[in-house]
Amino acid sequence: PRIYIPGDSGALALGAEKVAKAIAKELADRGIEAKIVRNGSRGAYFLEPMVEVATANGRVAYGPVKPSDVKSLFDCGFLTGGHHKRWLGAPDKIPFLAKQTRLTFARCGINDPLSLDAYKSLGGLKGLQNAVAMAPADIVKQVTESGLRGRGGAGFPTGIKWKTVLDTAGDRKYIVCNADEGDSATFADRMIMEGDPFVLIEGMAIAGIATGATKGFVYIRSEYPHAVATMNKAVEVARKAGVLGVNVLGSPNTFDMEIRVGAGAYVCGEETSLLNSLEGKRGVVRAKPPLPAIQGLFGKPTVINNVISLASVPIIMDKGAAFYKDYGMGRSRGTIPIQIAGNVKHGGLFEAAFGMTLGEIVDDIGGGTASGRPVKAVQVGGPLGAYFPRALFDTPFDYEAFAAKDGLIGHAGITVFDDTADMLKQARFAMEFCAIESCGKCTPCRIGSTRGVETIDRLAAGIEPEKNLALVTDLCNTMKFGSLCALGGFTPYPVMSSITHFPEDFKPAPTRVAAE
Ligand code: NAI
Ligand code: SF4
Repeated sequence: PRIYIPGDSGALALGAEKVAKAIAKELADRGIEAKIVRNGSRGAYFLEPMVEVATANGRVAYGPVKPSDVKSLFDCGFLTGGHHKRWLGAPDKIPFLAKQTRLTFARCGINDPLSLDAYKSLGGLKGLQNAVAMAPADIVKQVTESGLRGRGGAGFPTGIKWKTVLDTAGDRKYIVCNADEGDSATFADRMIMEGDPFVLIEGMAIAGIATGATKGFVYIRSEYPHAVATMNKAVEVARKAGVLGVNVLGSPNTFDMEIRVGAGAYVCGEETSLLNSLEGKRGVVRAKPPLPAIQGLFGKPTVINNVISLASVPIIMDKGAAFYKDYGMGRSRGTIPIQIAGNVKHGGLFEAAFGMTLGEIVDDIGGGTASGRPVKAVQVGGPLGAYFPRALFDTPFDYEAFAAKDGLIGHAGITVFDDTADMLKQARFAMEFCAIESCGKCTPCRIGSTRGVETIDRLAAGIEPEKNLALVTDLCNTMKFGSLCALGGFTPYPVMSSITHFPEDFKPAPTRVAAE
């Protein structure tokens, strides 16, 4: 028999290692020979550690498994899919997973992430095989026609970015993958790097061949040691198998890559700051223009894409632009891995075509709050995203629809809050976060965020509420339009959405201060 126990860091945080040890011990005690495979996570984190067994009738899942469950699991005939209180049945029939449209995450969590054979057996490398037989401009055209937009948050068309790099002359060009996933509630980049690293490697190789870049770097945040380890090993495997290096898949193309580790600054997720950090400099934002596509890493034309943007390319090159474009709504095409977190019952990664409403995601898929209390607010798009009240739950998941409601999808992380949340405190937190993470290059962000914290504190203390509310609004406008990058420029979103949608939390309440 074959037993699958996730080695994904989310599952490990929930006790997967202890479960693996308990299962290994139980196997030894009972004298049973079985192979334990450490797979990635399928992303239903509320069921992790989710253990699966390959039976004659397909895979059977159990979860969340505790070490104390292991003995009774074996007593119940777990190795042949026997019933137990943790029994979940076939993993792809679990509603949270069955309702998804998995294109980018099609393989994530199914097999040993470092098995290239397993990757190929599930359709891996077909996109790259097609790409090596094509002219660069045709690859760029296919990616453009798919409608793929940058999944890091800005939603810029990936094909147009690649075209700028292809059309810019340079003796060297680079592909840089932004894996500095700093947004609260986000873990899609981590999950794919740990659970299906070859899809990212394949996407980067395709990007290289499409733009004439021969070298790639993945910049991974230091908080992701498991992702760093898996990616390093996967690059080695890919190199040995001829997927990377000279003559990629036997073609005349050369493309190789390296993994680099950040040092823990939120602003290094901003592309120009990231480039400075990669070059060994301080992670300070560079003014644009010049765009990195023209003058990027070491001054050379550079594609910088988020992990999910690059990991979505192989399926586009395998199944075609029309196939991918068929999913989604409006100008938001394809699928997006929505990451559901915070005070929510069914937290995890849910890949779906664009267009589901926020209400469907939070209430139906997420199952409402974990505390069982009413949902008060949902922050979409990380710490720089707006707080949406229930009144906006009919907003479809679409770049333009969110922008029209003064919000953003960002990297598609959503954090759920129940009715005990104090939105004044959340607004203060946004300013405080900006003050701590500011790179200091421009004044509206560096000074504005600190003044913002002070002004909100005065509001909380009931000091001149009207004047201070007007001051915060004015300050937000200055930050929004006067900041050099999204950190200072987007901090007004959580602040202003709190004030707009939850005005009652900003009413003078001296008791609030007295109570603290
Ligand atoms: P941006 O709108 O300035 O740029 C988007 C991208 O398009 C950049 O890579 C830019 O270089 C490129 N670009 C623009 N015009 C181009 C052209 N003509 N040719 C080629 N490339 C071109 O946005 P920015 O500042 O890069 O990102 C802001 C977003 O980052 C926010 O929407 C936010 O959601 C997101 N974000 C994501 C985080 C994460 O953890 N993933 C953390 C913080 C923010
Ligand atoms: Fe730096 Fe903030 Fe200005 Fe961005 S907005 S360049 S983080 S000071």
